[in-house]
Amino acid sequence: MMVQTNPHAVAFLAIMASVIHPALANEWTGWTRTNLLALATSYLPNGCDPEGTTGLTSCYETYVPGVPYMVKHTNIPPGATPTSSSTYTNRDWDIKMVTILLPPDAVPRSEIDGWYWFRSTTTRPPSTSDLWWIDHTLTAPASCPTRFEFTTSHLLRYWGDRLPSEFLDEYMLPKATVFPVYTTTPSYRGAYPSPVREIHVKPTDLPPTRNGGLPLYGDAGLFISDLKSFNQSYITHCHLPGEPRPCSYTYAGKCSKIEPWKIIVAAVIPSIFLLGFVESFFWFRRLMLGKSCLRLGTVCWNLIFIFLVFFTAIEDKRSPEHQADFREQWKKMSLMTKIKLWGQFGFRHRYPVEWLGERKPTGRVTESIEMTRGGGNGGAGRGGQRVEDDDIPPAYPGPPA
Ligand SMILES: *[C@@H]1O[C@H](CO)[C@@H](O)[C@H](O)[C@H]1NC(C)=O
Repeated sequence: MMVQTNPHAVAFLAIMASVIHPALANEWTGWTRTNLLALATSYLPNGCDPEGTTGLTSCYETYVPGVPYMVKHTNIPPGATPTSSSTYTNRDWDIKMVTILLPPDAVPRSEIDGWYWFRSTTTRPPSTSDLWWIDHTLTAPASCPTRFEFTTSHLLRYWGDRLPSEFLDEYMLPKATVFPVYTTTPSYRGAYPSPVREIHVKPTDLPPTRNGGLPLYGDAGLFISDLKSFNQSYITHCHLPGEPRPCSYTYAGKCSKIEPWKIIVAAVIPSIFLLGFVESFFWFRRLMLGKSCLRLGTVCWNLIFIFLVFFTAIEDKRSPEHQADFREQWKKMSLMTKIKLWGQFGFRHRYPVEWLGERKPTGRVTESIEMTRGGGNGGAGRGGQRVEDDDIPPAYPGPPA
């Protein structure tokens, strides 16, 4: 053979054998694939046939660029000692790819897959390379004003090369979306355009990984952290990157994400509560004028604190004579006094006897009022009051029916 006659002719035979051993039948994990690999040198130009199959004779030896060749079978020939061996493990599915390099000429060239193209004058057609993408769809939460989905893709580099084609064909391809083959623009002058096939898979369509969850092998972990921050920054805030955050609610023309019920709690209820003080003073004024009124609670406060109903009392009106006196008395009071008395009697059940006499009076109260005020203790002098009350003759016939 010419190979042997030329001392510089080092012929590496590329031998690739592949075999799938599904250790667990019908399982997606526990596979081992073995490749036998080597580089090759042989004879150029193309068309030269040192083995005499085409009758060409003008051959010279040269190195063939380091393209490995497949072998049609998987048996390591007897006596052949592998020059190296390496194992690649995909931990997501526990799949091993064992690569064994055999010495040159360990198998006849006729057993090399693709040798036809190598020795032929015909240019070997560029093989289609697969690009595997994982598509993740993020869904806007239900609380967003509009529902939307956003799909982001991440290239799973080396998937096509590092997972056995049988595994890809059996478990990945059936549910994948395969895009039409397109040809890449050569990246440099003279380079061949190469056909590319994009394959998109959804995480939910993949076989379960050994650790559960998404396949993290390669740089997919980066993708997942990207995805999470993307989700956190945009999708959960109801918008896509580059788009403004939508308004959940609009108050007085201003954008807000506070729910209406929170506005009610934060604004309306305290307002009603404060209004209750105005109402309370209103009832106190009626009390001091001898008119029927509410005591302690107000309508406003009862609306907020329903249990206050049990503490709210209704005060009966007094006789027209008393009312006339009380009106006079009220008119003469300074605002400060009114407020002070309101603070004293507006928030409890104690009746301002010092000012209005007994609730069911038995005599003229104006005297007692004057006496109390004359005492100069702001109406707090109960002892003096009692004395005055004792002096009042029981002239009243009794409570009105
Ligand atoms: C996106 O964020 C939502 C809300 O925090 C969460 O429920 C969902 O699981 C996230 N999705 C991803 C892919 O991280």
